[in-house]
Amino acid sequence: MRIHPSILSADFANLERDLLAIASADAVHVDVMDGHFVPNLTLGLPVVERIGQVSPVPLDVHLMLEDADRWAPEYALPGVASVTFHAEASADPFALARTLRDAGVAAAVALKPGTDVAPFVDRIDAFDMVLVMTVEPGFGGQSFMPEVLPKLGALRRAAVDAGVEVRLQVDGGISTDTIGEAAAAGADTFVAGSAVYGHGAPAGRIQALRDVLAR
Ligand code: DX5
Ligand code: ZN
Repeated sequence: MRIHPSILSADFANLERDLLAIASADAVHVDVMDGHFVPNLTLGLPVVERIGQVSPVPLDVHLMLEDADRWAPEYALPGVASVTFHAEASADPFALARTLRDAGVAAAVALKPGTDVAPFVDRIDAFDMVLVMTVEPGFGGQSFMPEVLPKLGALRRAAVDAGVEVRLQVDGGISTDTIGEAAAAGADTFVAGSAVYGHGAPAGRIQALRDVLAR
């Protein structure tokens, strides 16, 4: 079980401080938004590159941008463990996953709440991780959508049947109230933005999430 705090809820004027505060996490989730794929704009290549140089944990880059085929390979930077692109933004998600693996990072595909999981269940071996969005992408602090959780069961069964190791990530509305339900549905990697930052010391919030999973 892995906890990936999202720096979307960190203080962008104190990014290094807020990165060092999550050294007990398994990775840091970096939300790249282009103002087109989602109605919000965050940060891009130069900032991700710099975060990769100072972060105490590997980077889990979540790209919410148009033309993933063009941009995703550029994010295979030092310090980046995985690059997640949206299925809805790629002409060929399977080819893009191969390109990312060839570039030396784990390849992950993200599915918006309304996106059908079936094509990815059938070819689960193409990915190192699948991100099942539990909110509409774009903003932190939204409410968890339990209705998407059945996708996780379908993906988990497919991974077991195929005999492959695939991480199943959830992102959006994850807190001590919802993480247990997501884990029971099959998730093993949990993004948490507002639940980690903005409620006192991030290390304590990370431990609180781990404590729920250990129950
Ligand atoms: C939303 C982003 C999330 C966001 C989650 O589009 O992909 O990573 O930071 O924030 P919380 O955990 O507050 O829902
Ligand atoms: Zn995200």
